Amino acid sequence: MASSLSIQTKYKLNSGHEIPILGYGVYQTPADITEEVTKKAFKIGYRHVDSAQAYRNERPCGQAIKNSGLHRSEVYFTTKISTRNMGYEKAKASIDASLKEGNVDYFDLILIHSPYGGKEAREGTWRALVEAQKAGKTRSIGVSNYGVHHLDELEEYINSGVGGKIDVGQYELHPWLPRPDIVDWLKKRNVVVEAYSPLTRAQRLDEPVLLELSKKYNKTPGQILLRWSLEKGFVPLPKSVTPSRIEENADIFDFQLTEDDMKALHTTDYSPTTWDPTVDRS
Ligand SMILES: NC(=O)c1ccc[n+]([C@@H]2O[C@H](COP(=O)([O-])OP(=O)(O)OC[C@H]3O[C@@H](n4cnc5c(N)ncnc54)[C@H](OP(=O)(O)O)[C@@H]3O)[C@@H](O)[C@H]2O)c1
Repeated sequence: MASSLSIQTKYKLNSGHEIPILGYGVYQTPADITEEVTKKAFKIGYRHVDSAQAYRNERPCGQAIKNSGLHRSEVYFTTKISTRNMGYEKAKASIDASLKEGNVDYFDLILIHSPYGGKEAREGTWRALVEAQKAGKTRSIGVSNYGVHHLDELEEYINSGVGGKIDVGQYELHPWLPRPDIVDWLKKRNVVVEAYSPLTRAQRLDEPVLLELSKKYNKTPGQILLRWSLEKGFVPLPKSVTPSRIEENADIFDFQLTEDDMKALHTTDYSPTTWDPTVDRS
């Protein structure tokens, strides 16, 4: 079990850089409130913000970092190459556009948002990422929503000479979508696994097992879910625009789940809350 974790804990990536174990997600956070809520998250102690080209809020995330009083190096800033920018040329141009949009000299992490677009587009996008990393435009690189067949394809491409190492894999992960095949593939290669929609988008917070554990630890169902992520060794990325919940979602370091609790939360379910590009066959 993950006993000695704190909000300051970081995991080491294959790139040699470190990633804070709790991220702040901003999917569906409107651009006009993103700076304010992200600064609130920084005040509480989050040091990691997860944005994407598709979220249209890279700019206010960058502003929040600049206006937070924190040094750029104290905050972990992720973006993702959107599906419409797949392919070498488009991905390369989009990385420069994101740096400009976020008004930062570098990202800590750039992920390929999804495998959509076919093999050539996936491989060209990876090549653009490897070049961006070499040029100092991003410290680490990775993928999101890649199924095992996409990961195998990428590994073959990397070994064919293009190089680069997968630092992070980001996936929808929670007890009703544990994805053991993908997680095993990534962990075997020391890839850090990020959990998106770790709160099931608030769709399953009334599951009996959560209510029971919630009572046992005097923690909310959301906190139980986030702790499940930590016990699994994942980096959860909860999203909230509600100040009390931003705080609640970071207050997960004063208890831990036992092996029996984790057993109670174990399922072999496959219940994505929305899209699942890991099954893409393009
Ligand atoms: N790579 C990808 O394809 C991908 C896909 C989806 C998400 N993500 C990343 O992962 C992050 C989180 O995922 P998500 O936004 O899909 O889902 P989530 O974090 O599981 O859930 C967010 C929803 O739960 C509510 N909520 C937050 N904290 C709560 C709490 N303590 N109690 C009750 N309700 C709570 C939020 O409402 P309020 O905001 O109104 O408080 C919001 O409606 C995203 O922001 C994004 O950064 C990545």
